[in-house]
Amino acid sequence: MRALLLILLGLVIGAMGATFALSALRQGVPFHKAVMAVMAHHAGELHAQMRAGTCEAKGIAARLARLRGDAGDVREAFGDGIDAGFGPAADQLTTALDRAIAAAPASCAALSTVMRPVDDACQSCHRRYR
Ligand code: HEC
Repeated sequence: MRALLLILLGLVIGAMGATFALSALRQGVPFHKAVMAVMAHHAGELHAQMRAGTCEAKGIAARLARLRGDAGDVREAFGDGIDAGFGPAADQLTTALDRAIAAAPASCAALSTVMRPVDDACQSCHRRYR
């Protein structure tokens, strides 16, 4: 009888462990990491165009717009942020991207100029919060 109870207990604990493992797997990539990864992709593509010298206005505008959309999700992705400085750090990025879009860069040189404050916004937030 005691052995049977122990076997049953083992089965129940095993099933619970499997359920926890499955739900952990199902949670997938956290939203804030996804937002950062997508921004890194678009910023990386813009830098690659500059290195290759293949900058053209339409492609740049489309990518900057996507980057701006993702940057708008940063506050939401981190909830209320980490402290009171986090929101303004996120705003620094959206402001830099708004300016970049307004400048409508049509050459690699122009793109490089507008990307500097964008990259600074990424880096200054990372230095403080990452
Ligand atoms: C307002 C703050 C803030 C701004 C602005 C910001 N980041 Fe981040 N980023 C973070 C924080 C905080 C982390 C660490 C997240 C973690 O590890 O959970 C991070 C992590 C990352 C990561 C690693 C993600 C991972 O899977 O661990 C990448 C890549 C990244 N950021 C790219 C960027 C790029 C590119 C920009 C600018 C276009 C940017 N970030 C702007 C706060 C910011």
